[in-house]
Amino acid sequence: MPSSLVFPPGFRFGTSTSAFQIEGATDADGRGVSIWDVFAAEPGRVLRGDSPAVGIDHYHRYAEDVALLAQLGVQDYRFSFAWPRILPTGRGTVERRGLDFYDRLIDALLTAGINPVPTLYHWDLPLALQEAGGWMARETAEAFADYASLLGEHFADRVTDWLTLNEMSVHTLYGHGLSEHAPGLGLELAALPAAHYQLLAHGLAVQRLRAAGAQRIGVANQHFPVIPASDDDADLIAAHVFADLTNWTFGDPILRGVYPSDEIAGGILQLTGMSPEQLAADLRVISEPLDIYGVNYYEPTRIGAPQADRDSSGVLEVDIPEGLPFAAVPIEGVERTDFGWSIVPSGLGDILRQLRERYPELPPIIITENGASFSDGPGADGRVRDQRRIRFLDAHLRALSDEMAAGANVVGYYVWSIIDNFEWAAGFSERFGLVHVDLDTLVRTPKDSYYWYRDLIAAQSPARSV
Ligand code: FCB
Repeated sequence: MPSSLVFPPGFRFGTSTSAFQIEGATDADGRGVSIWDVFAAEPGRVLRGDSPAVGIDHYHRYAEDVALLAQLGVQDYRFSFAWPRILPTGRGTVERRGLDFYDRLIDALLTAGINPVPTLYHWDLPLALQEAGGWMARETAEAFADYASLLGEHFADRVTDWLTLNEMSVHTLYGHGLSEHAPGLGLELAALPAAHYQLLAHGLAVQRLRAAGAQRIGVANQHFPVIPASDDDADLIAAHVFADLTNWTFGDPILRGVYPSDEIAGGILQLTGMSPEQLAADLRVISEPLDIYGVNYYEPTRIGAPQADRDSSGVLEVDIPEGLPFAAVPIEGVERTDFGWSIVPSGLGDILRQLRERYPELPPIIITENGASFSDGPGADGRVRDQRRIRFLDAHLRALSDEMAAGANVVGYYVWSIIDNFEWAAGFSERFGLVHVDLDTLVRTPKDSYYWYRDLIAAQSPARSV
């Protein structure tokens, strides 16, 4: 049933993907190796040993996927450039065939009337840069700046909207603090330099993209409410520290030019060996003004002080190791996606309010990711009846609309994802798409949620054209 939701004229509906999760073709056309190729090939890292090497083969089927986007009626399509496709060793020699692929994709999108919104980096670091220190090294931020110049100079004539990095917080926590994602370093709190150098990479890229003529620049940060496990001081402190490390370590430097606490700034100084003057200079770069601020929202997190008897399963996909000053606590009484993530649409409104209160200079927001994993596949008649996804999206769009009425300046909303894809350590077992993919034949089948979203977008058109 079409929703009666109405968004303001000019509001942009879209969908999101990332290169490593959809492209496959990991050996094609001179592409270099990324940290995720290596990680996924290690036994035990990815559920069932699922391989991204062919994946859903978007690299070869992009025209079919653009046609699906066109029929959906989205204004925007967010995707990412694969750094190792364009610069196989992260810097130096350019692989022309990599640029050619994104030329073909962007031109197909523009021909279909869809605005391309590329992210420069969505976790697929070229392996050669990892071997030189990866995000624990300042040189990676400098290499990223050069990569940003290259992309800006090549594409800014056709691409107006740009996002620098995706979810630096998740990349830092899961890939560097823990070992659930590539590069799997497990450094716990000693991973903080990876946060700083990604932030620096972001700021440098903003400067380079602007110099190349980019018109609208933003970042895609994951944000979520952190709910204290109780009113006890120990739980309140643990939740505060966790929120600082996940939300505000990545929001404050960009939007206020500071780290959220002296402890975090001090930790970065100590772990990087930087001088306070250098840190201050970096923060000036990191806080370059933005035109849009991307928020990825999935679920709130409930956090308490670590306790021996605390059940730390079921909220984050991973257990937080003992020794860290917080523990995840399940949120009770909510429905969950098939991934086990709690479904709390009001959390979207809550985090938008927190952002507004915290940042007086907050640029217009785009919800750059929101969506849910439900495993529904085709029935006997071939139709995919994913009612739970429709309910999820409808509830989140209603929460968004309410918060916009309350003052949130949100100018777009992108569903994660247009199509089922490689969900990192969960492989292909989690399905986030509006379009189902048969993993044997790679046949694409729009789910009921695809038609629901199409109708919702179409119902906005009269309002938008006023
Ligand atoms: C986000 C990631 C995205 C996807 C969704 C489900 O954290 O940015 O790549 O995996 O989760």
